[in-house]
Amino acid sequence: MKTRIWGLAALLFATATLPLAVPALAQNIDAVKARQAAMKTIGKSAKTAGGYLKGETEFDAAKAAELFVTMKENAVTFSKNVPEDSKTGNDTEASPAIWEKPEAFKAKLVKFEGDLDAAIAAKPATLEAFKASFGAVGQNCKSCHEEFRVDK
Ligand code: HEC
Repeated sequence: MKTRIWGLAALLFATATLPLAVPALAQNIDAVKARQAAMKTIGKSAKTAGGYLKGETEFDAAKAAELFVTMKENAVTFSKNVPEDSKTGNDTEASPAIWEKPEAFKAKLVKFEGDLDAAIAAKPATLEAFKASFGAVGQNCKSCHEEFRVDK
């Protein structure tokens, strides 16, 4: 009898201290996808801008203005899709630094959106003016990618 009770106690103890199976934190894949799609669109806009700058495409002031608006909308979408639970998944290139240095990351976002607002307000009418506006916007890409994107 004594042995049985001890056996039961041991069993209960073992069950109680069994480490809870901790599932890998469920990741918010939708957020990863949304920010990747936003960056893809921003990349497309930058390509169009590059076409103007290289003289491959004839400069179109109306389309250029639209391009900055599209980039701004996608920059906002991007900024809304970097929650804590989106650190991994869907081959994300988001660097852990985003969540380790949130203030520095936020500053990059604010500057990017601010430069886009300025470009939208400037409404560059000539290729020369567009060069200046896009030049300011374009600096943000490398500056943020260097610190907050891991190239895979
Ligand atoms: C505030 C930071 C930040 C700025 C500014 C920024 N990016 Fe990104 N970009 C990222 C991060 C982070 C990723 C990785 C996203 C992921 O995979 O989850 C990324 C990914 C990308 C991708 C790959 C998208 C894909 O998944 O196919 C392209 C293209 C891109 N960026 C272009 C640009 C261009 C062009 C600019 C400037 C006009 C720019 N980015 C500005 C942070 C930034």
